[in-house]
Amino acid sequence: MSEKISVMISESDVDKRIAELGAKISKDYEGRTVHMICVLKGGVFFMCELAKKITVPVTMDFMSVSSYGNGTVSSGVVKIVKDLDDTIEGKDVLVVEDIIDSGRTLSYLLDTLKSRKPNSLKLCTLLDKPDRRVTEVNVDYTGFEIEDKFVIGYGLDYAQKYRNLPYIGVVELD
Ligand code: IMP
Ligand code: MG
Repeated sequence: MSEKISVMISESDVDKRIAELGAKISKDYEGRTVHMICVLKGGVFFMCELAKKITVPVTMDFMSVSSYGNGTVSSGVVKIVKDLDDTIEGKDVLVVEDIIDSGRTLSYLLDTLKSRKPNSLKLCTLLDKPDRRVTEVNVDYTGFEIEDKFVIGYGLDYAQKYRNLPYIGVVELD
């Protein structure tokens, strides 16, 4: 079985959209510091590129979560595998994700973070598959809404591979 990759969103289109998001976030957070929280590992490429386009002060932290369940469908019960290093109390927190699918992971994560009393809590995702939503999530910044296809690249993996692709692709198995 070989894996063929086709391009869904080109590198230049992704870069252009990230620059637009960075400009919007810079405007919305004027006079404040954005505390960006990356959800590992998928969010890391997007967060780094986005941070470079933000002109207000930025601080960063990282967390890693995993879904309990059978592995292919997220169960909604999320385990924090790596927690944040720093407190978020009183901070203007922007959670940065690669993709929102069922919404279960983010819904749990946002509830957990909210209980830690940030000054504000917003969500930025590179990709959104709205047709797949099971749990409602309020998304503040979206790069692209996409159809229900399994995508890779720009942080997103297929069996841990392809995260380093500089574009969003689709794996075709044949
Ligand atoms: P959910 O929103 O709780 O269903 O889970 C979202 C997580 O599933 C994302 O953070 C990704 O790690 C993973 N995921 C969902 N859709 C895709 C995809 O198309 N490609 C790669 N990973 C995906
Ligand atoms: Mg993820």
